[in-house]
Order: sequence, then C-alpha cells, then structure tokens
Amino acid sequence: MSTLITNIAELMTQDAEHRVLKNAAVVVEGERISWLGPTADAPAADEAVDAGGRALLPGWVDSHTHLIFAGDRTAEFEARMAGESYQAGGIAVTTGATRNTGDFDLTRLALGRVAEAVSQGTTYLETKTGYGLDVENEARSARIASTVADEATYLGAHLVPAGMEPEEYTDLVCGPMLAAVRPYVRWADVFCERGAFTEEQSRRVLQACRDAGLGLRVHGNQLGEGPGVRLAVEFGAASVDHVNYLAPADVDALAGSWSGWDAETGEGRGTGHRGTVATCLPACDLSTRQPLAPGRELLDAGVQVALASNCNPGTSYTSSMAFCVTTAVLQMRLSVHEAVRAATYGGALALGRESGNDVDGERAVGSIAVGHRADLHLLNAPSATHLAYRPGIPLTHAVWRAGVRAR
Ligand code: NIG
Repeated sequence: MSTLITNIAELMTQDAEHRVLKNAAVVVEGERISWLGPTADAPAADEAVDAGGRALLPGWVDSHTHLIFAGDRTAEFEARMAGESYQAGGIAVTTGATRNTGDFDLTRLALGRVAEAVSQGTTYLETKTGYGLDVENEARSARIASTVADEATYLGAHLVPAGMEPEEYTDLVCGPMLAAVRPYVRWADVFCERGAFTEEQSRRVLQACRDAGLGLRVHGNQLGEGPGVRLAVEFGAASVDHVNYLAPADVDALAGSWSGWDAETGEGRGTGHRGTVATCLPACDLSTRQPLAPGRELLDAGVQVALASNCNPGTSYTSSMAFCVTTAVLQMRLSVHEAVRAATYGGALALGRESGNDVDGERAVGSIAVGHRADLHLLNAPSATHLAYRPGIPLTHAVWRAGVRAR
C-alpha cells in the first residue's frame, strides 16, 4: 500500500543536508518513506492525500518522559506557583500512588498519555520507570514501559525511598532491581542531584548498568551546578537531560564529546565518536521556575541539542512538544529550524535512532528521507514558523506513525 502526500507548501526534512523543500510531495510505502521531491515530479501511488498547502515535518521524537505513574501533584504545583521551590522529595508522593495502582490501571493511564502525545504529533517516544522504587514495582513499571513506549529506561535511581539508607538502596538498584528490569529496558538513567543521588552513588549506578549492557542517560544539573554533566560525558551517556546550571567546563565537556562527529553526515555513529546530547526540557523549567536551559549557548558551542517534554506529574505535566518548540524559539533564542530539529532529529540522536535505512534494517526516525520510518506531522499551517508565530494554537492536522495514519 502506498500513499502520495502532495501539495506540501513546506517540507522540513531535518535530513543530513537540513533541506527545506517548497511545493513538495512525499510517498509513503508501508512503514517507510519511498520518495520525496517536487509535487510536479511525484510518482503515482495507491492513494493520494492533498496536504492543501500545509507544512510537513518529521513527527516529534520525545526522548524524555516519565509516563508510568498514578495520582497527580496539583497541590505541589500550586505551592510552587505560590513561591515554594521544587524538591526532589515530591517523587515519593507519586511513588505511593503508583504502588497502590494495579497493572491494568497503570497501563491504561500510560496508554492514555501516549495517545495524547501522538494526537499532538509525537511519533516516537521514550519513557522511564522511577516511581516504583522497589524491586517489584520497578520491574512492573519497566514491563509496562516496554509495552506502551518505543524505548524504555530504567530509573530505579530516581529517589532513595523512605525507610532505606542511600547506600543500601544503591546496592539494590545496582543488583537485584537491575536484574529484574533488565529484560524490559534498553537504557538506564540516574538522577544525579542534591536530594537524589550523589556523584559516587551515580557512578556506581552507571557502572553497573553499563556492565549489564544498557545504554546510559543522566538527569543532571537541574537544580544547581554539579557533577551530572561531566559524569554523563565520562561514561559516554547518550544524553544528559535538564542541563540548567552549566559551568564553562560542562559546556566544554559536552562540546568535546562531539569533536569526532560530522554533524553534516552523521558520520561517527557507533564508532565511539558520537557524543552526549544535551536535552533541554523547557516545559519543566517553566513549571519549576528554573532558568531555561542555555540551548542557544550549547548549540553555538557545537553541542547536539534535543528538546523533550519531560512529561511527569511533578515538574512538567505536559506531553506537548509544540509547546517546547515554541518556548525554545520565543525564550531560548533557537531559530524555528533549530527548535524543530532538536525536537525531531535531536531526540532521535539522544535515543541512538537517527540513522538506519533500507540496508540497515532498523529505520531512522526524526527526519524525512528515503528509507527512513514514515513518521510525519502535517501542520494546519503553511510553515513551521507558525509554531512560534501562533503560540498555544493546536496546529496538528494529521499524523502518520510508521506509515499508519494515527490522526
Ligand atoms: O525529570 N528530576 C527528576 N525527575 C523528574 C521529576 C520527577 C518528579 O518530581 O516527579 C524530572 O523533572
């Protein structure tokens, strides 16, 4: 089955050449993109969709969410808006509600959040454990995460639960808990921050998870300067997320991690030359009243940047990637093209899914090119600029996920 999408006013490919085509068309064949080019040259297909002069982008790649939870934290949010500061300890509230919710309801809640994201143009999504915080609840969170999301991450090291000593809990995270979640996850993460895990504890978690064959990610430098970013680079983590408080040495370390990478061709994948993506989470920054992550400075320094929603009940209860893009343009000084790239290709890079075509077997996400997965987002606007020009307006007109019309 093939579908020709024609009459696209602006096709923002986010491909290796950063091409933006006008009056374009795309052919989707099964799960893949099989052709793109000028509408006038488009081949025939089984069905045709008239884009009506709208803009087409890659679907959003949301590389940082925490969707496996029950309960909400409205009261904590209200207190924050009244002047209180965010404390990592709020995680314990969600842990209590999550432990008291059965598998069926926890799965239903997570699926509802995924559906909400997809309806707004997200076509590839990561989610984490981290509200179980004991072996049984982390394992079932990992199992549910692996069924509802494209990528699942183990975040047993989110908070030391009440009643446990930090060292005792870190032993659990690195031992029996890791063994229990291992079949379900591809990634491991650690919240390296005051009030959560120290540098030494984070180091132990990263080492154990790497030894278990997991790819690494780090929550770092969210509430103050600290060792998170440098630890992430030292361990070759795929991404370090939050990055609000960066010393010059942190920016240098991130930029240095990309020094062997050819940003034009993506050359260096799998060769040890790829670096650590800095993932900015602007919705979280606004909701916690933290300074926005310095996305402009990171890009200028040569760091690869991603934007993600960080959808979770504590610090960022939104799945809107469009909101993140809008904020990145209006307040972080990214261009529209840079912000869309960070929310598509950047997310894919943070998840190691940015390359792969017909030959490789595993198809790239986050960019529109022949052989890549047909993850497409048609805006109800003639250009991607409208994402920032018309803030707050729901602009998703149609979504294809792996070639299947999802909205
Ligand atoms: O990414 N920073 C740590 N984890 C989440 C917040 C978790 C919570 O407060 O529930 C985050 O912001």
